[in-house]
Amino acid sequence: MRQALRIVVVLTLLGLVGAGAVVGFGLYNVSARVGHWPGVSWVLHTTFRNSARLRAPDMENAPALDDPDLIALGAAHYATACAGCHAAPGDSRSATVRAMVPQPPAITEAVADWEPNELHWIIENGIKMSGMPAWPAEGRGDEVWSVVAYLVSIQQDRAPDLPSSDLAGVDYCRSCHGDIGGPVPRLDILSPSYVEAQLEAYLNARRPSGIMAQAASLVPQDQYATLARRLTEREMPGPTVVPEQGAGAELARQGTRDIPACLACHGVGDNRKGPRLFGQEPMYLAAQLRLWRDGTYTHDRLMRAAAADLTDADIDLLSDYFAAVGN
Ligand code: HEC
Ligand code: HEC
Ligand code: HEC
Repeated sequence: MRQALRIVVVLTLLGLVGAGAVVGFGLYNVSARVGHWPGVSWVLHTTFRNSARLRAPDMENAPALDDPDLIALGAAHYATACAGCHAAPGDSRSATVRAMVPQPPAITEAVADWEPNELHWIIENGIKMSGMPAWPAEGRGDEVWSVVAYLVSIQQDRAPDLPSSDLAGVDYCRSCHGDIGGPVPRLDILSPSYVEAQLEAYLNARRPSGIMAQAASLVPQDQYATLARRLTEREMPGPTVVPEQGAGAELARQGTRDIPACLACHGVGDNRKGPRLFGQEPMYLAAQLRLWRDGTYTHDRLMRAAAADLTDADIDLLSDYFAAVGN
């Protein structure tokens, strides 16, 4: 018995010394050129597949994946965030990308065997030690669905074309803040100083958004002020009187014991504390209010407190109220 124990201890020590030598003396060849030892690729890939399947979220909170605005937004994000590795559908990947281990599959191949919820998990979490990045913002599984919607449109062979990769400056911003509505906010109703402040908040992750962090990181910071001015220079006039009909109007004007009056900060006129909401996209407003309420957004203390007690029904009511007024 003591003999057996001694053998186990000696073998364990030898194993540790061996592993230490591989790490310490660089005996394991990390070259991408030699690839993995036989069987290792299979083990890694099978581990990844089963890991993604086990952890994929359920579809209960997924938006309608055939919404054209959602697909267009996902396509525009894909163009700068993913196409560099997986290429546009039908295009070939660069020679350098094809020399990666593991190789990023062409996108038509990458989406082939996955369900939408599994794609969501992969895009939100990335794949360790493979080059496949995680979503660059925390707690924003909501916006990952836009990319899933685009990938599903590829599976169904009805994907829209990607926006051109030559766009720069305001034309780049307008590839989303132009024709796409729904989850993409209007900027022409906002003030330049607010737009500039938000770009900075996105860049340094004070306001977490993977989509806007990517966009803000692609333009030089010294151009933020110019972009903000140009995107708002035809600032649309807002309503001059506050509409007073309906339950939404009442909640926005008077609030309740737990909910402050939104119009105290988001009313008409120029001395507003918060940004203009009248005329904004309703789907966008509802999504933002949920982020404030659920504590994903914390970058403004007053706004965080204002949203803390909103119910889902309040959120729908208020989003429809603000969206319906204005131009
Ligand atoms: C820097 C390169 C790179 C970028 C950028 C990148 N990926 Fe990947 N992706 C990879 C690699 C490498 C793999 C293969 C991982 C593996 O097989 O273990 C992968 C795997 C995947 C898979 C799983 C495919 C499969 O079955 O193996 C999907 C889906 C995917 N990527 C989608 C995306 C999307 C969507 C984006 C943009 C949000 C993106 N990727 C950005 C490198 C990248
Ligand atoms: C790939 C699509 C896409 C591109 C490109 C894009 N945006 Fe956005 N933008 C969005 C989305 C989606 C949101 C909402 C993000 C969130 O949840 O906070 C947003 C939000 C914003 C906001 C916040 C508006 C508000 O009401 O608070 C500003 C400001 C903004 N974008 C400016 C820009 C500028 C400037 C550019 C060009 C450098 C740009 N965006 C490029 C999709 C895009
Ligand atoms: C005490 C002032 C105040 C009150 C009350 C208030 N807000 Fe806000 N709200 C703000 C400020 C300030 C911001 C901008 C924060 C930032 O990003 O810098 C904001 C941002 C928002 C946004 C994001 C807008 C965008 O374009 O992205 C929405 C939506 C919003 N508020 C809705 C509401 C609603 C609905 C109510 C009433 C339940 C409300 N707010 C009450 C101050 C307030």
